[in-house]
Order: sequence, then structure tokens, then C-alpha cells
Amino acid sequence: MSVLLSLDQGTTSSRAIVFDRSGSIRGTAQREFTQYYPASGWVEHDPNEIWETQLAVAREAMIHCGVAAADVAAIGIANQRETTVLWDRSTGQPVHPAIVWQDRRTAAHCDALRDAGHTARVQQKTGLLIDSYFCATKLQWLLENVPGVRKRAEHGELAFGTIDSWLFWNLTGGKLHAIDVSNASRTMLMNIESCQWDDELLDLFQIPKPVLPEIFPSSHLYGETDASLLGGSILIGGAAGDQQAALFGQNCTEVGMAKNTYGTGCFMLMNVGERPLHSRCKLLTSVACTTGSERQYALEGSIFIAGAIVQWLRDGLGIIDSSSEIEALASSVADTDGVYLVPALAGLGAPHWDAYARGTIVGLSRGTTRAHIARAALEGIAFQVADVADAMIEDATRPIAQLRVDGGAAANNLLMQFQADILQVPVVRPKIIETTALGAAYLAGLASGFWSDRSELAKVWQTDRVFEPTMSATESQHRRGRWNDALERSRSWEV
Ligand code: G3P
Repeated sequence: MSVLLSLDQGTTSSRAIVFDRSGSIRGTAQREFTQYYPASGWVEHDPNEIWETQLAVAREAMIHCGVAAADVAAIGIANQRETTVLWDRSTGQPVHPAIVWQDRRTAAHCDALRDAGHTARVQQKTGLLIDSYFCATKLQWLLENVPGVRKRAEHGELAFGTIDSWLFWNLTGGKLHAIDVSNASRTMLMNIESCQWDDELLDLFQIPKPVLPEIFPSSHLYGETDASLLGGSILIGGAAGDQQAALFGQNCTEVGMAKNTYGTGCFMLMNVGERPLHSRCKLLTSVACTTGSERQYALEGSIFIAGAIVQWLRDGLGIIDSSSEIEALASSVADTDGVYLVPALAGLGAPHWDAYARGTIVGLSRGTTRAHIARAALEGIAFQVADVADAMIEDATRPIAQLRVDGGAAANNLLMQFQADILQVPVVRPKIIETTALGAAYLAGLASGFWSDRSELAKVWQTDRVFEPTMSATESQHRRGRWNDALERSRSWEV
């Protein structure tokens, strides 16, 4: 058997999926890992736990389907983006926990940078808006707050990377310090035109060059894994930020095609072609997955909390025992009875960008039940996606013909139908909703020759179900108006 192994290192869990040539899943394994919240708005991960869980699930997935290292044509990586790791090159040990993309500790610093007038220049160079979401200020924080670290970084003793870099390093036994270009485009340190580290940005964020990894295309033969890890060495054939991987995995390779991934957060990306399109509506521009010299760009709306609101209903509020219960509970009522839930637990991302917004539930009455709140939580996810879609349509000056969906919550029929209704656009769910991992497999498959070209990939992607809008446009507009009222109440809450 010849297969590909995808490592999908997400915000809350490490997963591994084995794909065969038809794109079918042959084996899978998943482990959640610890989330640390050391202060309000701070989110950290233990990089060693990320590595250990990722290695463990890779082994489990291989055992699950009975494949040995020799059967694996290549490994592809898709990873949570922006999460920032700084480690010692000689020991391979992190100097501090990873600062997770959701972490807002540098929000005030970002305010100051914006107030100092850097927004336009940074956006022009990186395609990004100044925000604590990206690596630049997180890395700067580490360099300024961990004792002794700046000097050691300047002397080349430390290595910075996103999670793909961290996995490359560990998979190769410390031989490779690299980053894929789609991840690098989310650091706020890379020039989006040249796809190289940018000296002016390095100066602005006071980042010493010796910490930086080398930038490579997404589909690329990065090296081989250390033979002791997976029972023999395996080629590493690609890596991408999970959202760009999902865009690729959805075969959104034509200009104007868009996908939305319902994970911890929601990430809507549209392919905008071979030139970066700078947003006027507070969206982000990033490099999409690259294969060889071919480069495409994506417009993105990042929503910080989506599936995480369901976890919060489970862990914070305790109104469900497991995430899978939410669809049945939400479907047990015909509507939310006027309840709106704004899931701004980590501030608001695109297109609102309010780090100080907080979650809000409005419209409660004596008749409100946990079912109404569950339904309002799902609808809150869909409303946020619709806000991003509006911005995307305006920026791209073209309508969205259909929205391809993936990620865990794309399995939720109630949510998908409501999404189609509120967007007034068909929502298309593929047979494999593990599109992030599939995209990583595509990248590794192309680099290793497992698949010859993209036309082969097009055969792998198949539709499971199309959700056509059934709500009237008037009703959709009315509900969106009420949502906007709720959204206003969540803004600028944290002082
Ligand atoms: O930008 C953050 C994103 O890459 C995280 O994705 O799938 O872990 O929610 P996910």
C-alpha cells in the first residue's frame, strides 16, 4: 500500500490522518492537549506537548491502518497558524510556552503601533492589519520579557518558528529550521510581494535576523524524518497554514472560489489570483499554498471563536455533555425566541477587529431554555461568517457563487442550512470534511510524485451535500439587523 500521512496540528488537538490514492481516509488518530490561560486574554501551549501528541497520533494512525514507514510516500503538515515558538537551537527546548494565536497580551502594543501611524505601511507590505493575532508582536514580547533571551537571539542561539517550523525541527531531529511561505505570510514579518523577510518590518518589531527560519514553498521536499521516530525515515513533502491548506484541499484554485472552515475559529478564504489584493474592508491578504514557482493569494476573514463557543457551552456553561449534542438540542426548538449570542470570547476578528469586545447574550426572557442558547450559539457562528462574506464581496468586487465548507462543525446540518439561509448563497459540503488534512496531503502528494498534477486532485474532491437557501431574503436581512444590534452591545467591553 502507498499512502500519505497528514499531520493536522490544530489549536485544541493534534491529529494524524492517512490518505490513500483516491483521497479516502485509511487511518486516523487524535489527541487533545492542554490549553493554558495564565492571565486574562492570554493563551499558551506547551510546545513539547504539541510535539509529543503529534508524534503519538502519527504512530497511532499508522498502526490503525497497518502501514509502515516504507508505505508512506510523504508527510504533509497543516498547522494552527501564528502561534509563536522560540527555542534553544542546542537543546531543542522552548525558552517559554508557545504564545497562541488567540492570545491578546500584545493588544496595547498593537494599539500604540496603529496610533503611531504604521497601519498602511504594514498592510501594504504584509497584507495584514496590525493586531496581536500575528507573530511579530508575540515574538517581540518574548524577546523583551523572557530574561536573557534577546542577547541569545542576537547571537544566533535561538530559533523562532510557527508550528510547522517546530514540527520540522522535531521531525528531523533538529536538522531543519524552516517555515512554509503560507505560514510565513502570517508572521507580519514577511513581504507579501517578495516572499522574503522584510528588513523594515524586522526593524519595526525589533526582531534579530538570526532567529528566523528559511522560507520554502508549501509543496516542497523539506527533508526526511529522523528514522527513530516512525519506524523508518519518511519524506516531508509539504506544509501550510491550516486555512490555506483547507483552501487547497477544497480545490479552490480558481479566482473567486471561497471556502469556510468551521474549527475552533472560522476562517473564510477566497482565492484572489496571482496578485495580492489589498483589502479596504479590514480583511487580510495572505499567500495561498504554493506549488513550485506558482503563487496565488487569498483574501481572508478570520473569526476567532466558532467551534470554541460549543466547547464553552460544554465546559464553561455545562449545558451539553459533549459537543456532538448541540445539533439535537438546538433543533429541539424552532428558533432562538429572540436570543442572540455574540461569541466574542476572544475579542472580535474580521471584519470588526475589536480586541476588547467580549461575548454577549441578549434577548433572554423567562421562557429562554438551554436549547435557545444552543441555537443562538450556532447562529452566532453563521452571522459572523456572513459579516466576513459581505466584506469579501465588497473587496473582491464579485459575488460569491457558492461557499465550500469543511471542519468539524460542517457536519452540523442545522448550522449549514442556517448558513445558506443567512448568506443567501448555496453552501457546498464535500464528502471529506477533513479538508485541512486533505490539503496537506495534496501538497505532499504533489511534491513526492504520489499524484502527478492538480487534475488528479480534482478527482479526489467530491460533493456530499448542497444546502440551498430556503429563508426569504427579507427574513435574512431582518435577522442580520438584529444580529448587528447584538454585536454593538459586545463591542469594546473589556477596559
Ligand atoms: O489562524 C489560526 C488558525 O490557523 C487556527 O486554526 O483549525 O486550529 O482553529 P484551527
